[in-house]
Amino acid sequence: MKNKATLEYQGKKYEFPVIEGSENELAIDIKTLRAQSGMITIDPGYKNTGSCESGITFLDGEKGILRYRGYSIEELAEKASFLEVAYLLIFGELPTKRELEKFHTDIVNESMVDEDMKKILDGFPKSAHPMGVLSSLTSALIAYNPKFVNVSSEEEMYGAIVRIVAKFPVLVSWTYRKQKGLPLDYGDDSLEYVENFIKMMFKKPNHDYQRNDTVIKAMNKLLILHADHEQNCSTSTVRIVGSSHAGLFASLSAGISALWGPLHGGANQAVLEMLQAIQEDGGDTKKYMAKAKDKNDPFRLMGFGHRVYKNFDPRARIIKKAADDVLDALGIDDPILNIAKGLEQEALEDPYFVDRKLYPNVDFYSGIIYRALGIPTEMFTVMFALGRLPGWIAQWREMRLNNEPIGRPRQVYVGATTREFVSIQDR
Ligand code: CMC
Repeated sequence: MKNKATLEYQGKKYEFPVIEGSENELAIDIKTLRAQSGMITIDPGYKNTGSCESGITFLDGEKGILRYRGYSIEELAEKASFLEVAYLLIFGELPTKRELEKFHTDIVNESMVDEDMKKILDGFPKSAHPMGVLSSLTSALIAYNPKFVNVSSEEEMYGAIVRIVAKFPVLVSWTYRKQKGLPLDYGDDSLEYVENFIKMMFKKPNHDYQRNDTVIKAMNKLLILHADHEQNCSTSTVRIVGSSHAGLFASLSAGISALWGPLHGGANQAVLEMLQAIQEDGGDTKKYMAKAKDKNDPFRLMGFGHRVYKNFDPRARIIKKAADDVLDALGIDDPILNIAKGLEQEALEDPYFVDRKLYPNVDFYSGIIYRALGIPTEMFTVMFALGRLPGWIAQWREMRLNNEPIGRPRQVYVGATTREFVSIQDR
């Protein structure tokens, strides 16, 4: 073995190949560890565990680099449309004009959602959290598209992919409109994907739709920035559920649930709630900084820190600038933005945050833009889900095409050893 790692335990040596990624990342391939030695590795939270080889997204947390299929996030956010990026992530290359047109036409042809799905939506109270509703509706799609559940050939996969890319924005807009008491809409197929989504969300029955380039541009950018982030919690969920061949829609529904948590995508809602709480409490950012540093206080500075980035999250940099631009263009003076900037400044100079390499992440400023676009706070994570959809699909497709085995980690059992049953009257 040319590149190998040796593990020594109790005088015995075990050798393992070392594989190298295209960006020189090294990994010890321990597939034969248990067979060779009877041992397993343990790594709660998978902080040092690679679950797969992937050709989709590269990120370097130390240098603050993020690339989709080799293209820098900065360039894509500036120059590409969300649908182009979706195509790139899922199929590996930027589409030609004709390929993109075909992809869009195929999506348009599948954008109807069965009318009966409205009955499911009606079953939810208006107070239901939109992430729960969206996860349920995504799962319900299985019942209405049974042919596209257990897909295996590339052609069948394409059918499932086009269907979900088409129907998901409809479900997102329905989730929002139901909460707002607005009539449900199917959108306007003559429009480009992102603009169609915006119209579906915001069009009032008694008003003509007014196109706003600033809003479309900002939404496009936000969706691109959220489109993939390699093996994060929700993506790993999608891959692991998909690895049982449960199907794309079921895998996505599980991914949405994983994204919901405040340590993951739910952080964008938590950030805005935190900023609002600080504002209502008189704007004393120092008080909240102290709370974040106090180990006896469960409060964390939401939108700060990242499992992988130990440097500025490149998405946060772009979103911070976009927040300034959008608020300017829409003529909004939001005091919450100033609180966010104040917190960021203090954190960047505070030894607690500096020593732990805690920087603003993608969720820190995104909510300020969503708010400026008129999206309610509890819908923020749903917006993240819409952006992340192509990434989840791309990762699911890659996993299926690579014929990856079912995900099934092991454990180190630390419970009771064998003992005898005691009947209830003797306990
Ligand atoms: N505020 C205060 N302290 C923090 C924070 C924070 N936001 N984040 C991490 N720390 C501290 C943590 O207490 C620990 O300190 P110590 O070493 O003294 O015990 C140290 O920094 C390392 O933190 P960790 O929890 O071990 O790191 P992790 O990689 O397990 O967690 C994280 C990463 C993102 C869950 C965490 O930083 C966090 O909870 N941040 C706030 C929530 C958030 O913004 N999440 C969005 C993440 S980015 C988008 C996404 O994933 O969807």
